[in-house]
Amino acid sequence: MSSNLRRRVAVVGATGLAGQQFLVSLAGHPWFEVAALAASERSAGKRYRQALKRPDGSSGWQCDEPLPAQFAEQEVVDAAGLDAGAVDLVFSAVESDAARVLEPRYAAQVPVISTASAFRYEEDVPVLVPGVNLEHAALVKRQQRERGWKGFVAPQPNCTAIGLVIALAPLVRSFGVERVIMTSLQALSGAGRSPGVVALDVLDNVIPYIPSEEEKVEKETRKVLGRLEGERIAPLDIPVSATCTRVNVRDGHLESVAAGLGRAASPGEVAEAMGAFARDFTDLGLPSSPPELIRVLDDPYRPQPRLDRDTHGGMTTVVGRIREERALPNGIKFVLLSHNTRMGAATGATLLAEYLVHRGLA
Ligand SMILES: NC(=O)c1ccc[n+]([C@@H]2O[C@H](COP(=O)([O-])OP(=O)(O)OC[C@H]3O[C@@H](n4cnc5c(N)ncnc54)[C@H](OP(=O)(O)O)[C@@H]3O)[C@@H](O)[C@H]2O)c1
Repeated sequence: MSSNLRRRVAVVGATGLAGQQFLVSLAGHPWFEVAALAASERSAGKRYRQALKRPDGSSGWQCDEPLPAQFAEQEVVDAAGLDAGAVDLVFSAVESDAARVLEPRYAAQVPVISTASAFRYEEDVPVLVPGVNLEHAALVKRQQRERGWKGFVAPQPNCTAIGLVIALAPLVRSFGVERVIMTSLQALSGAGRSPGVVALDVLDNVIPYIPSEEEKVEKETRKVLGRLEGERIAPLDIPVSATCTRVNVRDGHLESVAAGLGRAASPGEVAEAMGAFARDFTDLGLPSSPPELIRVLDDPYRPQPRLDRDTHGGMTTVVGRIREERALPNGIKFVLLSHNTRMGAATGATLLAEYLVHRGLA
């Protein structure tokens, strides 16, 4: 491996759900070495395994994979005091309020790849999705110039928007998209650990509202699918309508999507465009890249969260039930499944970092 790809990284919010997934993604990573773990002052000064302990003594480790041994005894530092200059790159997995304060401090020195929403809507901040809009990465130069930072903030979109933009991007390119209506059935892990979803609220139930989620999905979808014009992004100027619900599934966001296309296309043409999507990106063979960004299934009973969320390690968006939508002009509808804590959070952010390193931007 070329030594110029090696980076020392910090994971901030390392004790949370997304942070834990980062550690799973980064354990044994060929380029990235985790040099620092950071969280709130509640965890600071403790060994990582100790910081995960809940008040009742149980472990708060929530990944399927065991806690990588190399991190168990590593000391957790206070994110507020993290010396970003001692690493090459920061992965940030804290809630938005904390991110708004912490991420600029780190970005003054090094690139920050974030799962938080704090900076997604700033004019000079790209919301990057591997294979979809990496040309927007050019905006980080504007961030550095205008904010006087050596690094930058590169947030991922919301974990519901990510599957949606991946599935829509080939349609935008091949046929044009004029309108989108999406209803999500989102997994419990998307709500994180604190506050999370109360078991008794969701057992035998569906919760039809997730605060702020629909606005995020609508705005981010237009931004990610927008065009880079000089050093700004012109959002895709179409109506995007989202209804977001929480269902009793652990991982994997399912979305029912109806789109009005710019020209008529058959379900077969749509399936072909999706199946061929982003081969130039997957051919780069980046360490966390799946061999295909979209897999199209023709079994009408798929995709299903339990059966399909782990396709290529949860990095592939699985699409099924592609059919005509007669209620919209040039309408097409389908169901997609995207793994919210893999492509939708830590592993997706790791893949994004790999791309930025590969391009010489981080
Ligand atoms: N869960 C998902 O599927 C998912 C998907 C995409 C994006 N995200 C985003 O990822 C971020 C983290 O989500 P999560 O689900 O992992 O949340 P979480 O499980 O609640 O974890 C929050 C993490 O942030 C730390 N933290 C809290 N307040 C802090 C502060 N003031 N300063 C420094 N660290 C602080 C916590 O440390 P302590 O343990 O010390 O309290 C913990 O490590 C959010 O922005 C979320 O929107 C999550």
